[in-house]
Amino acid sequence: MSPYAHITGWGMAVPERVLTNAELSLMVETSDEWIFSRTGIRERHIADPEQTTASLAVEASLEALRIARLKPADLDLIIVATSSPEHIFPATACLVQDRIGATKAGAFDLLAACSGFIYGLNMATQAISSGSVHTALVIGAETLSRLVDWKDRNTCILFGDGAGAFVLQAAEERAGVLSAVMRSDGSGSDLLTLPGGGSRFPTTIDTVTQGLHYVQMNGREVFRFATRVMSQSTQEAVAKAGLRLEDIQLVIPHQANQRIIETALKNLEIPPERCFINLDRYGNTSTASIPIATCEAFTAGRLKPGDNIVMVGFGAGLTWGAAVVEWSGPFPGVRKLRPARLRLYARIRSFILRLLRRIDAWMWGRNNP
Ligand code: UT7
Repeated sequence: MSPYAHITGWGMAVPERVLTNAELSLMVETSDEWIFSRTGIRERHIADPEQTTASLAVEASLEALRIARLKPADLDLIIVATSSPEHIFPATACLVQDRIGATKAGAFDLLAACSGFIYGLNMATQAISSGSVHTALVIGAETLSRLVDWKDRNTCILFGDGAGAFVLQAAEERAGVLSAVMRSDGSGSDLLTLPGGGSRFPTTIDTVTQGLHYVQMNGREVFRFATRVMSQSTQEAVAKAGLRLEDIQLVIPHQANQRIIETALKNLEIPPERCFINLDRYGNTSTASIPIATCEAFTAGRLKPGDNIVMVGFGAGLTWGAAVVEWSGPFPGVRKLRPARLRLYARIRSFILRLLRRIDAWMWGRNNP
């Protein structure tokens, strides 16, 4: 029997700074009334200059490891799903690996825009069920506030910064991620895009003048696409898990727009009380929205062991997907972890590795003049 991937740890991190709709209405021509009625968003969190996608990811990850009672060295795999990586390369996942001290983990970034967390969850689950990985960390982390044009009211009102992380562990008992579906349609790639800064449009004065380094979106088309695929992929994932919609206790959707979520629920004939929504306080945090909502659903007492949950998302690409999870919680154990101490150990370790690399380079230079 292939092992199942149980979710045994979860954590979230959001910047302290809150940007309200009222403040936004002083920056672009908009209003609290327009934003709230069209999106359901009231406010979002915005990273301070010293906060980055990796720093938020590290915070969320250490909390997830604390809950799972695991050391960073127990991790075999780190996947960071992000639409706002720190660089094209190296992967943000490697920065996280270094800063938490996950000495035995492979690490890579996954780019499937706002569907990235569902994709990452599925990839980690496949790695666990194949037996090649025992323990994985899946992170959704964003600082999209750095990539939106704060003069474009079509996009700047939507996005917020934050990170969420799950620890996944192998177990024989049937629970955890029971099924997942992933879909894509690149014919809609122009509907939501950040065109500049890659190899197609390398950064030049021209690309910057044209604003190609900012998120560009056809909101109406993305809206139409989203309402269609959210219900479709939910149904597919539930059927694949051998369940019926009546067996689902909670839907945790990608938090992009209240109206998109309501339309999907209506199509599925799922009452709103079986859905968790927190986008009023965070806006659209892209890959981080599902794990952040899961953390808050747990804290609000909306998740109990044995509950069946659907996580469903959509995004640029176009991509979409859903996963069915049976909630189980941490494995029994008593190990206490102190995130601050782990972070310090990782820093010391990283410093020593960098120093050794310098000494090694110096000695190599002496021996090979
Ligand atoms: O993770 C995936 C990320 N993307 C999404 O989820 C986007 C999905 N789409 C949406 O959420 C919605 O399409 C939006 C919230 C972006 C826009 O809502 P809408 O109801 O589709 O508005 P619209 O684009 O059809 O625009 C309606 C009007 C337009 O004015 P006119 O042409 O009717 O005079 C816009 O110019 O509202 C105007 N408008 C605004 N007005 C005030 C557009 N943005 C704003 C704004 N404040 N921020």
